[in-house]
Amino acid sequence: MREQTIAALDIGTSKISCFIARIGGHAGDMENRPRVIGIGHQLSTGLKSGTIVDMGESEISIRSAVDAAERMAGGSPIDDVYVNISAGQPRSRIFSVEVDVAGHEISQLDIDRVLSAGQKNIKAEERFILHSRPVNFSIDGVAGARKPLGMFGEKLGVEIHLLTVALSPLKNIQTCLNRCHLNLKAAVFGPYASALAVLVADERELGTICVDMGGGVTSLSAFRDNELVFGDIIPVGGHHVTRDIAQGLSVSMEKAERLKILYGDCLSARVPVRDQIDIDQIGEDGREYGIAIPRSMLTSIVSPRVEETLELVRDRIIEAGLPDRVGRRIVFTGGASQISGLEELARKIFSADASPSVHADFHVRSGRPVSVSGLADATAGPGFSTCAGLLNYGATQPDEIHARVPGSSGEGLFSQIRAWLKENF
Ligand SMILES: Nc1ncnc2c1ncn2[C@@H]1O[C@H](COP(=O)(O)OP(=O)(O)OP(=O)(O)O)[C@@H](O)[C@H]1O
Ligand SMILES: [Mg+2]
Repeated sequence: MREQTIAALDIGTSKISCFIARIGGHAGDMENRPRVIGIGHQLSTGLKSGTIVDMGESEISIRSAVDAAERMAGGSPIDDVYVNISAGQPRSRIFSVEVDVAGHEISQLDIDRVLSAGQKNIKAEERFILHSRPVNFSIDGVAGARKPLGMFGEKLGVEIHLLTVALSPLKNIQTCLNRCHLNLKAAVFGPYASALAVLVADERELGTICVDMGGGVTSLSAFRDNELVFGDIIPVGGHHVTRDIAQGLSVSMEKAERLKILYGDCLSARVPVRDQIDIDQIGEDGREYGIAIPRSMLTSIVSPRVEETLELVRDRIIEAGLPDRVGRRIVFTGGASQISGLEELARKIFSADASPSVHADFHVRSGRPVSVSGLADATAGPGFSTCAGLLNYGATQPDEIHARVPGSSGEGLFSQIRAWLKENF
């Protein structure tokens, strides 16, 4: 493959990051990882829960992150960017349809028939299809056929996973990029990108859930047979912990953030009773006064909020039936996953002892981006998983149909799926 430059932009609630990378030009698997040559990141102030709420503020932070990355990469301006979206009430659904092919060789016509049979499943609504891939073909009820064209059977079935989002957050991203003179090459569901960066190939193949704990949202994706089969967003993140600390201890948000990172722990019980920390409390006159408090006061604020977030994640996973669909392996990433004690707490919450709905213990680990090379220590942490994964998406460009689901019927969508299958299978 010819060597080329691609760019990724993660518009997050806490920070905006831009990675510029070179891809191609090498043989061998490891050498084909995107090689990051430009990095820029900036505090983000124009977003709330993953959604742009202040176009002007977002534009300034995007411009500055992109500028820094361009300068580091040698100065030439970027145009196309892969951008994540972690908003828009994502809906993840698998459509499953089957038609009779009566014992003959499976032709394109049969695949068309399967797809038009699925057409009636599409609900009339104004949403955008972010990701769409066939996750399974079956012939005579036997699943696992990767390419059914030319095979023999009585009945052909296909399962298509569709991840749709509301149009408006996407339009806002597009508008914001236009104001920065950038072109939206593709929008990628945030936790999908994170999973590409932190899961190893075996995990994506055998089945794994990836949970990205960000500042404003905690988002999840699930993989099986190398395909995205589920995605969701919970509007709670690290900011909520910081806000709880600021309120509970009467300190500024800035000081609360520092206390969380330095002394926070989500396992209250293991913090020694005698541990004291110094804080700057805001008095009635609005001035700050230094006092010492037991560290357990801080951890007793942090731990219930993180616990609650993990319980929400667990409930969503159980509700979606993921243990049966993809298994019980879960990888945590995102900036907020760095809170001390997270893995231990997650192991507890995802154990059969703690919750009868879990049935058997999950295998839990934390992950950081391993799918790209050239990241410095400061940008190789779990807060940069999404940005790194966007590069992997850009480097592989999975064939998908990105289409607007028409208001009245699914006709447009299914003719696109048909055309796309014709090209790819
Ligand atoms: N060492 C740390 N310990 C605990 N929390 C941390 C640490 N470092 C960063 N965080 C928290 O991580 C959060 C930011 O995570 P991240 O950078 O992944 O968010 P984001 O991608 O900008 O936001 P989102 O994905 O929600 O849109 C903040 O709430 C921050 O307090
Ligand atoms: Mg994020």
